[in-house]
Amino acid sequence: MKAESNNQRGFWGSRLGFILAASGSAIGLGNVWKFPYIVGENGGGAFVLIYLVCIFIIGTPIMLAEFTLGRKTHLNPVGAFNSLKPDSVYTGIGYMGVLAGFLILSFYGVVGGWTFAYVVKSMTGSVLSFASPKEAGVFFGNFISSTGEALFYHALFMGVCISIVLRGIHGGIERACDILMPTLVLFLLLLMVRSLTLDGAMEGVTFYLSPDFSKINANTILIALGQAFFSLSLGMGCMITYGSYLSEKENLTSSTVYVVIFDTLIALLVGMVIFPAVFAMGLEPAEGPSLVFSVLPVVFTSMPMGHLVSVIFFTLLAIAAITSGISLLEVVVAYFIDQQGWPRKKAVIIVGLVIFAFGVPSGLSFGVMAEWKLMGMTFFDHVDNIASNYLLPLGGMLTALFVGWIWGTKNAHLEIEKNENQFGFPWAQGWEFLIRYITPVAVGIVFLAKVFP
Ligand code: PHE
Repeated sequence: MKAESNNQRGFWGSRLGFILAASGSAIGLGNVWKFPYIVGENGGGAFVLIYLVCIFIIGTPIMLAEFTLGRKTHLNPVGAFNSLKPDSVYTGIGYMGVLAGFLILSFYGVVGGWTFAYVVKSMTGSVLSFASPKEAGVFFGNFISSTGEALFYHALFMGVCISIVLRGIHGGIERACDILMPTLVLFLLLLMVRSLTLDGAMEGVTFYLSPDFSKINANTILIALGQAFFSLSLGMGCMITYGSYLSEKENLTSSTVYVVIFDTLIALLVGMVIFPAVFAMGLEPAEGPSLVFSVLPVVFTSMPMGHLVSVIFFTLLAIAAITSGISLLEVVVAYFIDQQGWPRKKAVIIVGLVIFAFGVPSGLSFGVMAEWKLMGMTFFDHVDNIASNYLLPLGGMLTALFVGWIWGTKNAHLEIEKNENQFGFPWAQGWEFLIRYITPVAVGIVFLAKVFP
């Protein structure tokens, strides 16, 4: 179905709205939950430096390529590849993206549900009564292994995403992000002031900012690149989809730069909230994935104004999860609207419910299905692994190759320069070089290293 004739698609109301929505997609659990603990595990400042290099050299060129594909075709990922090289194998890149969106949201929704639960539990104060991360960890473990409660919050999270995406691009996603993103920034600044004014906060700042290069090895670089990808929502057509609702008059290069900087700044600032607080309370930052759910509650318990701070923190986490969840849902929904001709309402409800149902075994992977293991991994682990470690890097590499060599950087230039002349030499040549050579090779190495460790 042609995009122009499809009034179910929608559009962004303003450039700021688009930037907030794309940033909302990028800024998610990856920034607030994952980034701090992998920094903690991988040598603080040194890891941060490598992460920044990955963001700017590899992430940024791919994001521009994705926005360009989207705006050129005004279609979902499958339609985008198919319309540029009709009925070719390249359409498969689009299908991989839609599949990745489906799979990621199925487990992202589970963790999104945990964030909702912790908003409630921080309000009632039940997460604020722990003397040690161990106790808080037991509490967290009991919650995520509960069948009914965990499923309830998982359903609630998916319900919220569905209700936003139902209202469309402008009236739903954009409007939600217009409110949620400024709130997120405000909350983050409040938390940062609280954290940095604690006694002993500077020790955390030092850990965060002083690079320990002895902890850096090949694997650290792989982790940094994988994180850059996940954090910028790349490799699965999310930015193709969001770019497809853009009008011809928007500047793609500067939009890319804003989104990348916004996402990176938020990840860095989250570190500035968490590390000073963790160190000030005499705890360890290298706690792994449970950092946010079992170390922070202890930090909040012993901190002045901790109750309020905990509510603000978990609300921020929930906001970050929602604005990413809706972007994942939109990718799959856009496929059914464009390619199958479904009305938005039908697409959102069916896709949302099917993704929720498919996510149920992931949600139960910490409880009744914890022993259902295949090759030592639970259902949740498998879905996460297939999507994050295989589909995203492969999708990113193939997208770069497609734009660099198949569709061609010349065509991409024409699209990028439609209404802007800022993208002249040397930016254009720099981007061209990165997208053709550096990005595919770098991502290819990461991918191979993951598949053949
Ligand atoms: N970028 C999101 C985060 O940091 C996750 C995400 C990945 C969202 C891919 C959409 C697409 O949490």
